[in-house]
Amino acid sequence: MRGFACFVLGCLVSLGWCTPDIMNSMHVAAEIGTTSKLAAMKCMLCHTNPPKRNVFGRDVEEAIETAKPELMTKALWHELALKDSDGDGVSNGDEVSAGTAPANATDKPTSKPVATDGDLIPKHSFHPLYVHFPIALVLFGVVLELFGYRKRDSGLRRAGWLGLMWGTIFIVPTAFTGLRASFQLGMKWEGQYLTHFICAMAALILCTGVVLWRRKGEVESSAYFGLLILAGLAVAATGHFGAMLVFG
Ligand code: HEC
Repeated sequence: MRGFACFVLGCLVSLGWCTPDIMNSMHVAAEIGTTSKLAAMKCMLCHTNPPKRNVFGRDVEEAIETAKPELMTKALWHELALKDSDGDGVSNGDEVSAGTAPANATDKPTSKPVATDGDLIPKHSFHPLYVHFPIALVLFGVVLELFGYRKRDSGLRRAGWLGLMWGTIFIVPTAFTGLRASFQLGMKWEGQYLTHFICAMAALILCTGVVLWRRKGEVESSAYFGLLILAGLAVAATGHFGAMLVFG
C-alpha cells in the first residue's frame, strides 16, 4: 500500500516537475517573451486540457519523442517551426513570432493581405456561377438518355444528347475557373479539395468519353450506358464535394 502511495506521489511529483520544464524549454527555444500572450497561455499552448494535447502539443510530442532529455531544444523548434499544426496556412514559426496560437486556426497574424477588395476578378473566379451548368445539364442529360432508351423515344434521347453535350462543354470553363479559384484562395492539395479535384477530372474525362461515343448517333451498347452512369455519378460527386467545401 505504501509502495503504491509512493508510486502515485512519485508520478505526481515527476509530472509536476516535468511538464513546466517542457513549457520553459519551449519558451527558451522559441524565444517566447515572459510577458507575451503565448507565455500567458501557459499549458494551453500545447494542451486543450492537460494532459490532453492540442494539435500543436501533439506535434511537439512527436518532435521530442526521440530527444533526450524530453525537452524542447532550438534544433527541434526549428523543425517544428516549419510545420503548420493548426493548418491555417501560417507556419508555427510565423505564428509564434507574431504571438498567435499555433494550435488555433482562427488565431493567426492579420498582417497578411487576406481580402483583395476591388479586384476585377473575385477570388472565386466565377466558379460558383459556372458549376451549375454541367451539374444540371449532364445529370438531366443522363436521365433523359436512359429514359429515352427505355421508352424507345428518340425525341427524349435527342434532348438527353443536347444536355450531355452542352453540359460537357460547360465543364471546360468550370474546371478552368475552379483551378484558378483554388490558386487564388491558396487551397491545399489535400482532404475534400483533393477529392473534389479528382472527381472533377474524372467527370471531365468520362463526360468527354460519353460525348465522343454518342456524337455519331444513338448508342445501344450496355458499355455505353455504364459509362454514361459513371459520368453522371462523377459529376454528382464533384458537385457534392464542392458543396462540402463551401458549406462545410
Ligand atoms: C510546449 C508545449 C507544452 C506545454 C507548454 C505544456 N506541455 Fe504538458 N506536455 C507536452 C507534451 C509534448 C507532453 C507529452 C510528452 C511528455 O510526456 O514528455 C506533455 C505531457 C503532459 C502531461 C503528462 C501526461 C502524458 O500524457 O504524458 C501532463 C499532466 C501535462 N503535460 C501537463 C501540463 C501542464 C499542467 C502544463 C502547464 C504548466 C503543460 N503541460 C505545459 C507539451 C507541453
